Amino acid sequence: MNISGPRVPKQARALLDGQKKVSTYEATGGEVTAQFASHNIGLLPSIAPGSVIHDNACGSGTVSRLILSSNPSSDIKIHATDVDQPFLDKLQEDATKNDWPIEVANQKSESLSFPDNFFDLSVTNIGIIFFGAAGLDGAKEIHRTLKPGGVAVVNCWERITWLMPILNVHTVFRTGKPFPAPVINWADGQHLQKIMVEAGFSKDKMRIEKSDAWAKTRDLRGWAEKSWAYLAGIGGWIESDEEKWDEEVDLLAKVLKEQGGTKEVDGEAFVESVRLSQRAHQGPPLRAPTATHWIGPVYSTSPIFPLSSFKTPAETVCIADRTEIPSTNETTSAAVGLAWDSAADWEV
Ligand SMILES: C[S@@+](CC[C@H](N)C(=O)[O-])C[C@H]1O[C@@H](n2cnc3c(N)ncnc32)[C@H](O)[C@@H]1O
Repeated sequence: MNISGPRVPKQARALLDGQKKVSTYEATGGEVTAQFASHNIGLLPSIAPGSVIHDNACGSGTVSRLILSSNPSSDIKIHATDVDQPFLDKLQEDATKNDWPIEVANQKSESLSFPDNFFDLSVTNIGIIFFGAAGLDGAKEIHRTLKPGGVAVVNCWERITWLMPILNVHTVFRTGKPFPAPVINWADGQHLQKIMVEAGFSKDKMRIEKSDAWAKTRDLRGWAEKSWAYLAGIGGWIESDEEKWDEEVDLLAKVLKEQGGTKEVDGEAFVESVRLSQRAHQGPPLRAPTATHWIGPVYSTSPIFPLSSFKTPAETVCIADRTEIPSTNETTSAAVGLAWDSAADWEV
């Protein structure tokens, strides 16, 4: 994300400087990537004792934290790598405090320091799209470092629901400045599959599957502000962004709210979601029924911003199993694909 440079508005810097970037991310996109990770890990066999695991492009350790919360054998080892130091610092801090079996390192996923055939499980949760050569350089390293018989899980966004609203606000406030179009279409999973094959995994047993997730907030404007701070730099900050900050955020909140899939759950509807979590937690009522926004739009009917094809944020996941063929000593892969739909299960 573009969070440095003279034009970054002070309001964005206040949300992104140093460690603040981590909590800003965790409160917005990170909440959704955590749901993807949770589902993907839940689909794998339980972690075998002694497993060596790679949390690749780990951020602040979404995947590592989920794995550790499943009470794995105490002799597993997780290597968590990323290039964004504030995220690594946060993970290191918690790992040290809790004595977690994690080694944290600043490493580019395209040039990992690990030896060949090192990991039993390699998880790249919403990271591959950032890797060089359209993901291929990272995929090759995933294949190289995975043991024969190991499992790799790699996923990418199918759609980021709030990106179109951000584009809309960009268009209104940054007249004539184009918003960069993605150069690669990751949406249908074809590209993900292609690079995994080029990296050495074999296609015949590989399946690409999907899952959905929802972001949820009680403070839509606050959520919009964090998202604008984190993502509006994609379109390039301009000088007036600082002065117009409140208007931009207000508009983003409005566009998000007007999307068909963003539901303000109040009264009865909110009670229903409490009831759902009540079943899960067996506890007392959770909170007073104040407004809650679910951001997972399906379609917009807004007359001001005629948006189309808005859907829930979704991922495409590729789970590949690297298997050695003993007779030729070549490697191939088997992949299992699994499908699920989490939107209805989202808990308070
Ligand atoms: C969307 S975040 C996902 C973080 C985490 N895996 C999660 O599930 O929340 C993408 C991460 O990829 C990292 N990243 C981007 N390019 C990278 C690269 N070339 N090598 C390693 N990490 C990279 C970013 O720093 C960021 O933490």
